[in-house]
Amino acid sequence: MAAAHRRDPQARGDGVHAPVLTEEVIEVFGRVFSGGDEGWIVDGTVGAGGHTRALLEAYPGLSVLAVDQDPDSLAEAAPVLEPFGDRVRLRRGRMSQLGGLLRREGLPGVAGVLFDIGVCSLHLDRPERGFSFRDDGPLDMRMDPSRERTAADVVNSWDERDLADLFFHEGGERRSRQAATAIVEARRRVPFQRTAALADVIAKAVGGGGRIHPATRCFQALRRAVNQEGEELLRGMQAAEHNLGDGGVLAVITFHSGEDREVRRFLTGRARAGYWSLQSDKPLRAKREEVSKNRRSRSAVLRWATRSGSEGGQA
Ligand SMILES: C[S@@+](CC[C@H](N)C(=O)[O-])C[C@H]1O[C@@H](n2cnc3c(N)ncnc32)[C@H](O)[C@@H]1O
Repeated sequence: MAAAHRRDPQARGDGVHAPVLTEEVIEVFGRVFSGGDEGWIVDGTVGAGGHTRALLEAYPGLSVLAVDQDPDSLAEAAPVLEPFGDRVRLRRGRMSQLGGLLRREGLPGVAGVLFDIGVCSLHLDRPERGFSFRDDGPLDMRMDPSRERTAADVVNSWDERDLADLFFHEGGERRSRQAATAIVEARRRVPFQRTAALADVIAKAVGGGGRIHPATRCFQALRRAVNQEGEELLRGMQAAEHNLGDGGVLAVITFHSGEDREVRRFLTGRARAGYWSLQSDKPLRAKREEVSKNRRSRSAVLRWATRSGSEGGQA
């Protein structure tokens, strides 16, 4: 592929997952934690542990239930968070399962919930996980390996129209029909099993020439389908609503305009019903200085709101 594609952060991670909007996250949670206030928050997407570590350093009274669905992420976060001892509990689970996790941990009503739902460097940097269109690997893309459906299952079994809709709606691929037609034709000969073969067929169908790898959008759409990311996000926000006490903070970082729309729609709708106070009309975005150091941050959007009208969580 052209050298320009190497600039695409979705194409290849940089080996170390740099958290985005960290200053802003610290500031937002400063609404509930100042000085040495004690309490718990949930980091529902702990990843490599960057945000959790920054929050624990900023607020000495804070403890974090740090959750991720991906065992590789938890393994990455463990040494980073180990110095904080029992101020951190690392647990495997999904955003949508937040209520059950809190009950099991005996933490009814937390003061904050953070979700940061982009793809992690560790996914892109490990071809064996099947997220990368640059380095060949099995066509997998499951963040939670206990899920049954892989990207190969989607690509080899969905009908052409569903694939085209997926690429268009979840990936923003304008040549979605061409990609779907090419996939269906190719899989008649041999079902897809590897990322490189799929990337090749998509690239030929949609054409290159842009700043990003031609398979970027379709791969993003597949990842979202395999991990049910839209549903997870909605159910995660609903779980936050059920479990946050009055004044509790929900902060959500997204990297995709469709996801940001979902967050805005949920928060504005539920704010109208009296459950949330929106804290700003405009979402927070990375400052120029951060974007120059971490290109992944350029598409990051942080929205946050505080819980209102709650008696203190309903775990
Ligand atoms: C962008 S990374 C998070 C980075 C993290 N904030 C940090 O500072 O290192 C996203 C993480 O969220 C996890 N994830 C995505 N969707 C999830 C879900 N529905 N439930 C739990 N974890 C999820 C992924 O496995 C991945 O580790």
